[in-house]
Amino acid sequence: MMYKTVLQRMGMKTCMPRPFSTSSRLNYKVAVLGAGGGIGQPLSMLLKTNTKVSELALFDIKGGPGVAADIGHINTSSNVNGYSPDDKGLERALKGADVVVIPAGVPRKPGMTRDDLFKTNASIVRDLAFAAGETAPNAKYLVVTNPVNSTVPIFKKALARVGVHQPKHLFGVTTLDSVRASRFASQATNGLAEILRIPVVGGHSGATIVPLLSQGRVDLTGADRDSLVHRIQFGGDEVVKAKAGAGSATLSMAYAGARMASSVIRALDGESGVEECTFVESPLFKDQGIDYFSSRVTLGKDGVETIHPVGPINEYEEGLLKVALGDLKKSIEKGEHFVA
Ligand SMILES: NC(=O)c1ccc[n+]([C@@H]2O[C@H](COP(=O)([O-])OP(=O)(O)OC[C@H]3O[C@@H](n4cnc5c(N)ncnc54)[C@H](O)[C@@H]3O)[C@@H](O)[C@H]2O)c1
Repeated sequence: MMYKTVLQRMGMKTCMPRPFSTSSRLNYKVAVLGAGGGIGQPLSMLLKTNTKVSELALFDIKGGPGVAADIGHINTSSNVNGYSPDDKGLERALKGADVVVIPAGVPRKPGMTRDDLFKTNASIVRDLAFAAGETAPNAKYLVVTNPVNSTVPIFKKALARVGVHQPKHLFGVTTLDSVRASRFASQATNGLAEILRIPVVGGHSGATIVPLLSQGRVDLTGADRDSLVHRIQFGGDEVVKAKAGAGSATLSMAYAGARMASSVIRALDGESGVEECTFVESPLFKDQGIDYFSSRVTLGKDGVETIHPVGPINEYEEGLLKVALGDLKKSIEKGEHFVA
């Protein structure tokens, strides 16, 4: 029952499709840039099961058409097309897209931080943003590529360069931090992961990830609390280490990315009260020179509808937030300077 509820919340089918469903609009085109990768493939597969998606455009510099041919056999109604850079593939993938999800770029290897990826991923994200801005200027953009704290500012600056930046349309995908917070806290407290909602604010890298356990009513203290917070902040390292050089989180990330895309589409489709924590251009800490911040965001037909304040936090969380803000400022500036 719980399984059914969670999948339904993601807009996914839990049983045989009803042939003439009237409950959802089959009308949204989603483009995945980097669809051939470790995240891109399972993410695209999950999007194929989303009943609100009518067309999936899968672009990669390597393997887009193959992934599309494979996923295209899944018996849901959406059409799947694969694109390579040949024949203006990127433009064709982007044309008419309502939502563009970007997991293109290199992942971490053991010993690397997300920041170590900057050198390679910054230019990939910048160039994809130029193309997206030119061809799909009204799409909602979901940036997965790390380091998110810098790639979102890069994406914004590139969109602004082509004159189409709309702050409400750009999201850094930090959903995996919320997914991990809920799962790890439930393991630590014998709670139910599916209903435990813990806002995770700040950014998406180490100490910038600030889980607000108090708001999730997780009242651990001392070493138990410290180790839970550390696990949420550095949970990605567990996967990088276990994969021993073969990349970082892909499957849990695909789940999280599909949830975020589904939330954005549900809101586009007119559902009210859809909420996710996500890294957006935010007024919350602008007075400290921090233009982007992840907090609870209500999504609407035009993307970001309401950015919620951090809310009541305890002294311990205030300490975490202070450290996060310092780190964030540097990562954001690094991204902005890159495009400038
Ligand atoms: N936001 C998050 O929570 C989160 C979590 C995990 C990983 N990530 C990040 O997601 C990114 C992808 O990770 P992955 O494990 O899928 O890596 P991967 O190497 O398996 O896949 C990346 C894909 O991007 C493609 N690519 C590279 N340059 C491209 C371009 N210019 N245009 C289109 N496609 C291009 C590659 O061909 C490859 O198929 C990494 O930066 C990783 O750090 C983010």
